[in-house]
Amino acid sequence: MAVEVVYHGHSCVEIKSGRHCVQIDPFYDHNPLSDVKSDQVHPSFILLSHAHFDHVDDAGRIAQRTGAPIAANYEITEYLGRQKLKTVGMNTGGGMNFPFGRATMTMAFHTSTFADGTPGGVAGGWLLEIDGKVIYFAGDTGLFSDMALIGKLWPIDLAFLPIGDCFTMGPAHALQAAEMLRAKSVVPIHYNTFEPIRQDGAAFVAALKKREIPGLVQGFALKPGEHCQVP
Ligand code: NI
Ligand code: MN
Repeated sequence: MAVEVVYHGHSCVEIKSGRHCVQIDPFYDHNPLSDVKSDQVHPSFILLSHAHFDHVDDAGRIAQRTGAPIAANYEITEYLGRQKLKTVGMNTGGGMNFPFGRATMTMAFHTSTFADGTPGGVAGGWLLEIDGKVIYFAGDTGLFSDMALIGKLWPIDLAFLPIGDCFTMGPAHALQAAEMLRAKSVVPIHYNTFEPIRQDGAAFVAALKKREIPGLVQGFALKPGEHCQVP
């Protein structure tokens, strides 16, 4: 079955496979790049990488309306659980089977505090196994050498990597990340939303191609609202 990813700007993505729609880091209503609003999406499951507002902003609203469960680190699910939402608490290195496939929480070098100052545990990323495809969502992170381990443990078909710089790694380190992960394809995220993270997605994809990373098929600089099939 074809697995598709949809980009909504910033780090807000959906992964679609059959009747499943996995939402990662919903950020619509206050996302200047988003092509849709939070009341127009219908995820069957929501995954969060960390507690920063540009990743969790619309999670409660969408979960409330759709009944979609939220998986995130333990601290985030405790916080959201107080709003009477269905949650699944996990932590770094742990994996679980869900109706859509398997999700493992990976490490990320970043912070994780809610907008109101509540600590949101440690920041993470997601490794998803859905319908025979392996998708890595790095989350907000700096470059770390254990990306090579993640690439060794899983044959990654598509990797979402931040390129914005300032709050996460920039394009140069994202190229290194792609190489260490041995990803078959790469989609740049977390850029152009705000002034400090202005970057050229097409230039990043061109640099990726020029680097001739073994096994890398292509990069997709998706514009908000665009989608691509996981190769
Ligand atoms: Ni962040
Ligand atoms: Mn962020």
